[in-house]
Amino acid sequence: MTLEEKAHFVIGTGMSGATGNNAVVGATKKLVPGAAGTTYPLDSLGIPPIVLADGPAGLRIDAQRENDKATYYCTHFPIGTLLASTWNQELVEQVGQAMGQEVKEYGADVLLAPALNIHRNPLNGRNFEYYSEDPFVAGKIAAAYVRGVQSNGVGTSIKHFAGNNQETNRMNNDARISQRALHEIYLKPFEIAVKESQPWTVMTSYNYINGVYTSENKDLLETVLRKEWGFKGAVMTDWFGGNDGALQMMAGNDMLQPGRPEQFDSIVSDVKHNKLKESDLDRSVGRLLELIEKTPRYQGYQYSNKPDLKAHAAVTRSAASEGMVLLKNDNAALPLSKSISKVALYGCTSYDFIAGGTGSGNVNHAYVVSLVEGLKNAGYKIDDDMKAEYEKHIAAEKKRVAHANDGNPFARFLSLPLPEELTFDNARLQQQVENADVAIITLGRLSGEFMDRKVADFNLSNNERTLITQVCEAFHAAGKKVVVLLNVGGVIETASWKELPDAILCAWQAGQEGGNSVSDVLSGKASPSGKLTMTWPLRFEDHASSKNFPIDMEPDFNLTDHGVLKSDRKNYDYTNYEEGIYVGYRYFDSFDKPVSYPFGYGLSYTTFGYNKPSISQKGDVYTVTIEVKNIGKMEGKEVVELYVADPLSQQLDKPVKELKAFAKTRNLKPGETETVTMSVKAADLASFDEATSSWKVNAGKYQFLVAASSRDIKASLNADVKASAIQVNNVLKPQVKLNLLHR
Ligand code: BGC
Repeated sequence: MTLEEKAHFVIGTGMSGATGNNAVVGATKKLVPGAAGTTYPLDSLGIPPIVLADGPAGLRIDAQRENDKATYYCTHFPIGTLLASTWNQELVEQVGQAMGQEVKEYGADVLLAPALNIHRNPLNGRNFEYYSEDPFVAGKIAAAYVRGVQSNGVGTSIKHFAGNNQETNRMNNDARISQRALHEIYLKPFEIAVKESQPWTVMTSYNYINGVYTSENKDLLETVLRKEWGFKGAVMTDWFGGNDGALQMMAGNDMLQPGRPEQFDSIVSDVKHNKLKESDLDRSVGRLLELIEKTPRYQGYQYSNKPDLKAHAAVTRSAASEGMVLLKNDNAALPLSKSISKVALYGCTSYDFIAGGTGSGNVNHAYVVSLVEGLKNAGYKIDDDMKAEYEKHIAAEKKRVAHANDGNPFARFLSLPLPEELTFDNARLQQQVENADVAIITLGRLSGEFMDRKVADFNLSNNERTLITQVCEAFHAAGKKVVVLLNVGGVIETASWKELPDAILCAWQAGQEGGNSVSDVLSGKASPSGKLTMTWPLRFEDHASSKNFPIDMEPDFNLTDHGVLKSDRKNYDYTNYEEGIYVGYRYFDSFDKPVSYPFGYGLSYTTFGYNKPSISQKGDVYTVTIEVKNIGKMEGKEVVELYVADPLSQQLDKPVKELKAFAKTRNLKPGETETVTMSVKAADLASFDEATSSWKVNAGKYQFLVAASSRDIKASLNADVKASAIQVNNVLKPQVKLNLLHR
C-alpha cells in the first residue's frame, strides 16, 4: 500500500448529513443503507469495504431503500438494561445469536454493540443501552452478548471505552477518575468482556479520561487493553471522536470513524513530517486487515436480506418477559386472577408503548405491540371509550410537540417530549371503575443519545401523581386492584407513591413485542424473574455521584468542535468522580443509606427457600453451592447472588460487600429444587491499591454471602483467603487532586 492508501484505509468513508462527507460515501453507502459506516475499500488490492452498523437493541439500518419495494426491518430487541435484568447469560447469548443473524443476513459485518458503560448516575440519558451499576454484571452480560453475536461469524464493538457516563458535553467532557475507581468500576466490565469473549473490535469513547481523549490514550489502548488484558482485535473511534489523528494512531486507535477528508490530509502530512511513524500506521493497517479478513463480506458470503424475523420476534418476546422486574405484589395482585377480564388502562404509553430509547441505540422495527394490543391478544377486554380518549389525546399531544427539535441537525436521533398524562374527574372515574375488574397505569420515560435526563424526568409529573392517587382511591374503594407498569429506560422515583398501588412491574423498554411480553407476565403465562441491576434510590440526590453530575444543563450538539480541553464549568467541561468506588450499592450499602429498591432486588410469583449452603476451596477457587427450592405455588426462576465481604472492610476503605458471582436457576415447578453453584477466584477478591499499582488481596476470613438482593442475605459462609498482589502498570493517573469520598 502507498502511504495515501494506508491513510485512507484507517479512516472511514464519511457520513452524510454531517461534516464527514467525502467522495467514497456514495459507493459504500449503498452497501447497507442506514448503516453507521464502512471501512475504506481498496479495490486494486481486493480489499472490500466492510459494513459497521449499530447498535445494542438490534441492527440499525434503513428499513426502506430508494427504488426498492422490499423492506429491511430489523427486530427491535429489549434494551440493554432489560437484558441485564434477566441475569441470564445463556438467554442473552441467544438474543445475541438472533441479532447477529440479522447482521449477517442483511450484509453487515460488525455490530456496534454491546454498550457497557456503568450506570454511574440514574440521569445518564443512555443508561438504557448500558447494563448495570455493577462492573461484574455489566461485564458478564456483555461477554454473553458478544459470544452470541459473534457465533454468526460477524463482529461486535464493545463501547464506549471508557468512562462515557454522561451525555452532556460528551465530546469535550474530562472524566476525572481515580485510578482505583477506573480499575475497579469503569474499566472492569471491558476487561471481563475482552477476556471472556474476545470481541472483534473496541470502540473508544468521546470523553477525556484524566485530561486525555480515550482515543488518543496509549496507556489505555496499548498498555491496559492490549498488553494487560490481551485484546487482539482492532480499536475504532466513536463517530467523530477525538481530535488528533496522529495521536490516535500512535495510541493504537486503529480506525477513525466515520472519517473526514482533513483526517486523511493530517495523517499523510504527519507521516511525512515525522510526527507519526509509518510503522504505527502499518500496525493499525495490519489490525484492520485482520478484522476484514474475518468478515462475511471479505469471505464472499451471499447474504439473503431475509433474516428469520418471525423466529426473532419470539426470541424478543420471551427474553423481554424474563427481564421484567416485579417490584411490588401485595396480596398476590399479580398474576391477574382468572376472574379478571375487563381492564381499565391508564397512561399514554399503555397505548403507545415505548420499545426502546432514541439515538443510535434505536432500531427501525416493523411494528411495536402496544400494551392494549398485548392485553387484547391475551383475551382481556379493554374499555373502548378510554382507548378512544387516549388515542385522541396522544395524537393531539404529538402534534403539539412535533416541532420541538426542529432546526437541530440531529433531530431524527432525538427524543420528543412524551404526551402529558390525562387525569379524570370523579364521574368519569366512577364509570371506569364500574366497567373494569382491574386498573393498570403505565408510566413512560424516553431518553437517548446527546442528552441526559432531567431531574423532572426522574420524578413524577403532577399529572402522573394525580393519576395514580385518584385511580388507586377509586378502584380500592370498590375493592378492585391497581397495577402500575413502568415502561422506562432508567430509574425513576418510586418512594413517594409506591405504597398506593397493589403491584408495580418494571417492564423497561421491552422491544417490539413489548405489549405481548408484558401481557405474558400480567396473565401469569410467564413468571417474572428479573432483578434490578441498579439501586433505586429514595431521591435522585441520594446517589453519591449526584453532586458531580450535570444536572439540567443544556446539551451540546456539536460533533466536530472539540479538542480544546476547558476546565471552567464543573460537570460540563470536567466531572470529578469524587464518589470514587462508591457507585450504586457499593455506596448505599457501605454508608447504610435507605433506598427504595436495592440492587439485585426483584420478586417472583412464587417464593424460594435457600437451603444447605456450603463452601469449598480447590487451589485458588472458592465454590459456593446452595439448594434453591420453589416453596410457592407457581413456577419460577430465581437469580442467586454471591457477594463477598473482606474481613477488613470495616476498617479499610472498601465497600462492605461486592458482587462476585451470580447464577439463575432453571424454571422450577412448585416443590422442585436446584443446587446452584457459583465460583470465585481468589484474585477476583482484590482491590486496586494505588500506592503500589497492584491488585491486592488482604489475608483473612472472608464472608461469602448468598443473597436474593444486596439487602436480602440468605446465607453467610466463611473461608480463609491468603494475601496476594498482582502488579500492573501505573497509568491513567488523574492530573488534579480529587476530593474522594472515604468511609
Ligand atoms: C454513538 C455510538 C454509535 C455511533 C455510530 C455515536 O454517536 O455514540 O454509540 O455507535 O454514533 O452510529
